[in-house]
Amino acid sequence: MELSHLIINNKPSENSNNLLQKNFNKESNDKKVYIETYGCQMNYSDTEIVLSVLSEFGYNETSDIEESDVLLLNTCSIRENAENKVYKRLDDLKKYKTQNPNLVIGILGCMAERLKNDLLKRRKIVDLIVGPDEYRKVPHLIDNLIETGEKGIAIKLSRVETYDDITPVRKKGVTAWISIMRGCDKFCTFCVVPFTRGRERSRNLKNIIDEAKRLSDEGVKDIWLLGQNVNSYKFGDEDFSDLLDKTANAVPNMRLRYTTSHPYDLSMKLLEVMTKHKNICNYIHLPIQSGSDRILNKMNRLYSVEQYMNVMKKAREMMPGVGLSTDIISCFPSETEDEHKMTLDVIREVRYDGAYTFAYSPRENTKAFDMEDRIDEETKNRRLDEIITIQRKISVEINQRLIGKTMPVLIESLSRKSDDFFMARTDCNKSVIVPKEFSYVSESGELNHKKNFHIGDFVNIKINKVNSATLFGDPVL
Ligand code: 5AD
Ligand code: SF4
Repeated sequence: MELSHLIINNKPSENSNNLLQKNFNKESNDKKVYIETYGCQMNYSDTEIVLSVLSEFGYNETSDIEESDVLLLNTCSIRENAENKVYKRLDDLKKYKTQNPNLVIGILGCMAERLKNDLLKRRKIVDLIVGPDEYRKVPHLIDNLIETGEKGIAIKLSRVETYDDITPVRKKGVTAWISIMRGCDKFCTFCVVPFTRGRERSRNLKNIIDEAKRLSDEGVKDIWLLGQNVNSYKFGDEDFSDLLDKTANAVPNMRLRYTTSHPYDLSMKLLEVMTKHKNICNYIHLPIQSGSDRILNKMNRLYSVEQYMNVMKKAREMMPGVGLSTDIISCFPSETEDEHKMTLDVIREVRYDGAYTFAYSPRENTKAFDMEDRIDEETKNRRLDEIITIQRKISVEINQRLIGKTMPVLIESLSRKSDDFFMARTDCNKSVIVPKEFSYVSESGELNHKKNFHIGDFVNIKINKVNSATLFGDPVL
């Protein structure tokens, strides 16, 4: 699937959880659910829906497993290592079931859909298995389990479920996700998403805009519109460009971003809408996957390298300075050394700001699973390494040119590494580390030490240091 996987942390931090309990947990609720989320933003957004469903049935979220009545893992199947992580975590969790035999343990998300039988057979501690379209059933399955001891299984995929009427339980913060569509009909030959998340369906346009307005009223400053392939959004006669245009008008002070697009249907109309609105971020994540037309064809990606490059060229012409990132799968079955070099050439030609790079992972039931000429592990490691090295060098070069420049950033959270710094983000989606407090010389020449910023502030930052993934800077008043 196209959603990037690197943006968010897995477990709720102490900080965010305190905020959550203060703001969203209902006093009347007396049961506790602990939930861990793996994978893409869509899963994080789904976790907010599950929490909302459960909160109507007496559950508040906790960050302490030991006090939980229900423990849920919202899982990802995109690559083998994502699934292995959850299997390993289930082994760790055995001890909690031993301590508290009444603890209900559930697997949600893509692994529930794909691996029901395996989970039932190999992991006896699992009591619930619920796929992405059946989250409304979670409280009933728990009740039934408690009453009858029957394991709860619900993995039917739906053609209509969008959870449109459910208000997600959100952590208080300045960034929020709005899921606008679910599922994917593209059937790229390497990808499990069409099997685990089902067919494409879109939410009501008015409800999405109302949700954006409500978030704006609640103090959110930055929204990601989410979908496996947002360009397939369709509600009546209105497409994704219309949705983005209308949302940008409805919440003019809100930063808007989206992920992810498929190059096949990223339209000129969408680029025009992006140029029209100041509050739509100057950033496009457009997965190319491979620089070889033969491989793209085997992947069923529906575009050629030339077509992709034309979209990139157009984006740069229309939006100077646009931030560009991509996804790349190295070593798809039968990829030759020349074809690998073609991918390196594309990286050099586009000069992406960043890339999410993966070695091909065979997924059962996908078309590519049965393709011949799988690439050996040693070659996989080497080719992936070459891709990462080139991309890193380009990212550093691009970022180095920003040293000395001043740009507006939105302060999003505390820095993960130090409480003395904030993590902020530029319009082009680059992370910037900013001091929480800094000394500056006032106009009258006095040294003033006390200037504090807050999460949610827009601040002008002068960049003074960079690496491939992060910028560092000081506020300019
Ligand atoms: N193996 C490796 N990477 C994959 N992706 C999707 N399926 C696979 C797979 N089987 C990558 C694609 C997608 C990103 C989210 O994950 O690059 O865009
Ligand atoms: Fe993305 Fe293709 Fe997977 Fe759909 S099938 S989620 S377009 S990678």
